[in-house]
Amino acid sequence: MSLSVAVAGASGYAGAELLRLLSSHPQFDVTTVTAHHNAGQPLTAVHPHLRSLAHLTLAETSTETLAGHDVVFLALPHGKSGDLTDTLPENTLVVDCGADHRLEHPDDWDAFYGGDYHGAWTYGLPELLLSDGSRQRERLAGTRRIAVPGCNVTAVTLGLAPGIQAGVIEADDLVAVLAVGTSGAGRSLKTELLASEIAGSASAYAVGGVHRHVPEIRQNLVAAGATELRVSFTPMLVPMSRGILATSTARLAPGVTAAQVWHAWELAYADEPFVHLLPAGQFPKSGDTTGANTALIGLAIDDAARRVVAITAIDNLVKGTAGAAIQSANLALGLPETLGLPVDGVAP
Ligand SMILES: NC(=O)c1ccc[n+]([C@@H]2O[C@H](COP(=O)([O-])OP(=O)(O)OC[C@H]3O[C@@H](n4cnc5c(N)ncnc54)[C@H](OP(=O)(O)O)[C@@H]3O)[C@@H](O)[C@H]2O)c1
Repeated sequence: MSLSVAVAGASGYAGAELLRLLSSHPQFDVTTVTAHHNAGQPLTAVHPHLRSLAHLTLAETSTETLAGHDVVFLALPHGKSGDLTDTLPENTLVVDCGADHRLEHPDDWDAFYGGDYHGAWTYGLPELLLSDGSRQRERLAGTRRIAVPGCNVTAVTLGLAPGIQAGVIEADDLVAVLAVGTSGAGRSLKTELLASEIAGSASAYAVGGVHRHVPEIRQNLVAAGATELRVSFTPMLVPMSRGILATSTARLAPGVTAAQVWHAWELAYADEPFVHLLPAGQFPKSGDTTGANTALIGLAIDDAARRVVAITAIDNLVKGTAGAAIQSANLALGLPETLGLPVDGVAP
């Protein structure tokens, strides 16, 4: 029996990607799509590529339109989901792609977002290694409230957590620099995202530890076992519509060998359906993950610098948002974790 699904924020990029994946998921039936300025428009007027959902019209986003579904996916600007979801029944599975329920500490919310804090939900990164040796997927089983991670956070966390959890890298000197596609900033008009500003140029943003994903990366790496954590995080906007290529580096712990480093990452991801460690000497391109729910990781040990280098590629809209949301929803509902999720990308 299929489950009825509502997608709020369906006119945006994350909403569109949720719909693209949900439309071919065998257990989900999208019956309601909602928007803000675009409410009242046929879905295909806003997303002409979603032909199989051409019968849907965008409704207003309200507690009334979201009520009565088995599953509600939210892809709204941060700060917009808390009030809406407080009123949804406890047995409705609610999956929030925004930041409202990711952070466990109200102080982090105040410092990086501000406004009302609505509490943390079960975190939607099944592969996250936890310090006790378990993984986050165990916590997702049966939950009815899921907070989907930030896209950059997923790339950095998956790249570094194996080394933290195994104790082969030192957590007090982590550096992550990311090339990020423009869809990560959403679909609303912004001067700095115009084609004429972006094409042919790369630019750093939120430099100096002020990006909103910093506290979430910290939270994950502490969950993986880091104490004394220091992480420098710098995203770089590059001229591509989607994708993230994160270069994360860390100092090797004293006396650690290359074999021990490789063992840590191999052990972490050997059985993961979506996170794949590439053979030595191979490094992913962001385009290798386009349209797929995969994270591809290339690993190197820079002996002279005594550092581990982890290059992680994801599609920000799939493993970085919509795919993670559906993967986590599958787990929450007791469905096969991989159901409806592509591992093959689109190339070139
Ligand atoms: N883009 C990514 O790669 C990515 C990755 C991970 C997480 N996320 C998160 O997913 C959420 C959506 O991101 P996005 O990139 O899809 O943004 P987006 O393209 O700007 O879409 C935002 C959506 O929210 C609606 N909306 C705008 N203001 C609203 C309001 N006041 N009340 C209710 N709905 C409102 C918009 O409707 P109208 O267009 O009709 O006004 C649109 O459907 C954000 O919280 C973002 O952080 C995004």
